[in-house]
Amino acid sequence: MRSAEATLSEIIGAAGAHVPRLLALVEERLVLLAAGHGPVLAEHAGETIAAGGKRMRPLLVVLAAGPHAGRERELVAAAAAVELIHSATLVHDDVLDGARLRRGAPTVWARAGRDVAVATGDLLFSRAFSELTAVGSLAAVRSLSRATSALAEGELLQRQDAWNGSVAIERYLLRCELKTARLFQAACEMGAQVARLSTSQIAELGGFGRGIGLAFQLLDDVLDVAGPASLTGKHRGTDLLDGTVTLPLILARERDARLAAVDLRTITTPAAAEQLCESIEQTGALRESQARALQIVAEAKLALDGLPLENGQRRALNLVADSVAERTA
Ligand code: FPP
Ligand code: MG
Repeated sequence: MRSAEATLSEIIGAAGAHVPRLLALVEERLVLLAAGHGPVLAEHAGETIAAGGKRMRPLLVVLAAGPHAGRERELVAAAAAVELIHSATLVHDDVLDGARLRRGAPTVWARAGRDVAVATGDLLFSRAFSELTAVGSLAAVRSLSRATSALAEGELLQRQDAWNGSVAIERYLLRCELKTARLFQAACEMGAQVARLSTSQIAELGGFGRGIGLAFQLLDDVLDVAGPASLTGKHRGTDLLDGTVTLPLILARERDARLAAVDLRTITTPAAAEQLCESIEQTGALRESQARALQIVAEAKLALDGLPLENGQRRALNLVADSVAERTA
């Protein structure tokens, strides 16, 4: 299994030197955009950005644009905007979840409370659309705003379906699409828009992003049940304790009547969650969930075949898809 760093260096090796250069510019922009607006917001927005993350969405913006897109200021702005939206949603999500740790650091909610966390998320959200003006494209505004509306819908769907063990697979997949896949889609669309690709090419690249985003979420949900905590950095079954019903549990309940009879509200301790994870795993539901995710990645990669991409760009996008399929944390 390759480490995340090895995969990123392989992606950069395939795509070319413009990628790390642009990603470094994105980091600089993110720091600048989080600064100001009073000391409290500057501190918490700054720490949110400094906590890092995989920066997958900026990477997708840059890769979708390809090596000859030019228009570097626009690309960096698009990549920074999409990452700011992602960061804003996580700050708000941690308030809703009452989550104390994110990316190994205390969340804004844990450090400074609800009011500051809501305001910090709002600021990051607003800075994203301010940065978007530098992209100078109404199509980019449309892509990012659609994805952001989808995020809000997805989050609400998750709250509405909390603790409902008999949620339908289609509704679970819709939730994953709304809360995760659409922002990946927007990242690819925005890169392709800045590179002035055709409408159908923008849609194809967007479809690729949507596919790997969907698989990313499915595998995130598999890892929550599969663990181990030493790799994922969180206890097995955190979703179960939050009442978040995901594909492994849905499939396991179809396969084992005893699991279908479990009332999720009775799972209140990490030990009980761990035990339920074991039972889910024994039904084979983890393997099936993973197989579905891998199938989605394979289909997403097929979407690249018809596109006139540079060789290195094509290889790099395929490697991103592989890194999603192989993710262990
Ligand atoms: C993290 O997923 C949460 C999301 C991807 C969506 C959060 C969306 C909102 C809070 C609403 C929209 C907000 C704005 C600013 C538009 P997860 O809970 O599965 O993952 P986690 O384990 O990392 O928390
Ligand atoms: Mg969450």
